Amino acid sequence: MSTPLIKIIEVGPRDGLQNEKNIWTVEERIQLINLLTPCGFEEIEVGSFVSPIWVPQMANTALVFQSIIKSDHCRYSTLVPNQKGTELALTHNVRNISIFTAASEAFNKKNINCTIEESFERFKPIMVEAKQKNMRVRGYVSCAIECPYSGPILPEKVAEVAEQLWQLGCAEISLGDTIGKGTPETTRAMINTVKTRVPVDNLAIHCHDTYGRAIDNIEAAIENGVFIVDSAITGLGGCPYGGDNAKGNVATELVLAFLNRKNLYHTLNADAIKTARQFVLNR
Ligand code: HMG
Ligand code: MG
Repeated sequence: MSTPLIKIIEVGPRDGLQNEKNIWTVEERIQLINLLTPCGFEEIEVGSFVSPIWVPQMANTALVFQSIIKSDHCRYSTLVPNQKGTELALTHNVRNISIFTAASEAFNKKNINCTIEESFERFKPIMVEAKQKNMRVRGYVSCAIECPYSGPILPEKVAEVAEQLWQLGCAEISLGDTIGKGTPETTRAMINTVKTRVPVDNLAIHCHDTYGRAIDNIEAAIENGVFIVDSAITGLGGCPYGGDNAKGNVATELVLAFLNRKNLYHTLNADAIKTARQFVLNR
């Protein structure tokens, strides 16, 4: 397998902690991110500016963002669902935001209370503002393989939504196997369809490890040209609207072991990851 540098996006402080029943304090969230900073990630998702009624775990993201010690070698981003979230991000000097929609109508309704089309109506003013203010925008497509409510999703549908995000001006599109139902075969089929509509260099793979197949699915994505991989320290969390099967992002330490096993280039620091992992396990 010959590939360029594999870039890792650490989503634990957001996609991990948003699903924790035992809510982490602001201080704990700051400590975790400060331990993740020396790990060599391309980006750390710090939290989200979403409704604290919908996702109380992500309340006070502004305070977390302001308090962490940032490195020039890493991007620090937050998730935003709408213009209100974008305004909050701007007020607190966040330069990198992520917008999110799904390839499933049923999932979108549960997750952001709107249809796919309505989600794009929300995104248009966000993208105008982001362009004016020189913000980088990542786009997420959930249910890129299967939806917990409506079953398997056609790769063409994922490609259509991903292309719309791309045309809106997203710098990168992350394809989410939200409930971990993917196999190497379905992951390959999905990636190969999406990359006919969005350059593969701008695609990321976001796997949940519900059935223990995340690493095999990541391998399939990398073999098909993807080199941006999302992961979460210790495999924290899932999605609160993904149903019971959404728990467990792929663990960062498993991704690191895989990259080393395959002799793939990366910038991760094993000692720093070990320290951050221990912090989560000791909590
Ligand atoms: P809604 O209730 O339809 O919206 O929620 P609304 O506009 O009527 O607002 C309701 C209340 O929320 C209002 O407050 C707003 O001000 C407030 P009130 O007037 O009642 O006091 N509000 C906000 N507060 C803070 N920040 C905001 C914001 N917006 C409105 N940005 C909404 C619609 C989108 C807000 C809601 O559904 C929501 O916040 N959803 C977020 C759900 C979420 O965070 N899900 C997890 C992330 S997605 C994911 O994990 C998948 C991913 O990892 C990839 C994968 O694995 O597939 C990305
Ligand atoms: Mg996720």
